[in-house]
Amino acid sequence: MEVLYTALKHSHSGLRWVVLVLMVLAILNAFGKRRGGSVYPGKDKLALFALISVHLQLLIGLVLYLWLSPLVSFEGNIMGNSVTRFYTVEHLLGMAVGITLVTMGYSKAKRQAELNKGWKTIGVFYLFGLIVILLSIPWPFRNLGAGWF
Ligand code: HEM
Repeated sequence: MEVLYTALKHSHSGLRWVVLVLMVLAILNAFGKRRGGSVYPGKDKLALFALISVHLQLLIGLVLYLWLSPLVSFEGNIMGNSVTRFYTVEHLLGMAVGITLVTMGYSKAKRQAELNKGWKTIGVFYLFGLIVILLSIPWPFRNLGAGWF
């Protein structure tokens, strides 16, 4: 279990950079295409890869949350310890909101294909999703015991 925990924790930590790069690229691409007047084709590869990367994080995060992480606890004074509170409550809720925004943006854009609003929808939903995700990451300077990778 210890090996699995270490492997998943490092995958989850490293994958954050993939998520951030794909999200930024998808947003820049969406706003760029919108400005250029290009028609939203109903699906976009970059937006899809960004969506897959956050869902992968959700999956790994859930395994850590439910079974492996010693930082998640449902006993004692959860809210009194800033690290336990962060991982048990804040990280989960923040990421759930961020991932929901990205998912909503992608599926809403798909349904709007005929209206040609898809690029704007992707750009706006992904931008708000990215902001919430950035705010919910345990960056090293927040002293939550996490590293850069
Ligand atoms: C885009 C989504 C997400 C990103 C970018 C992200 C990023 C991170 C990062 C950078 C860490 C610190 C790892 C370390 O260096 O120790 C972490 C830890 C953690 N994350 Fe996430 N996370 C995301 C979603 C989630 C979700 C949805 C859950 C729960 C369902 C979750 C559960 C956890 C847990 C339990 C830890 C603590 C692992 C440990 O050190 O024991 N994460 N996350």
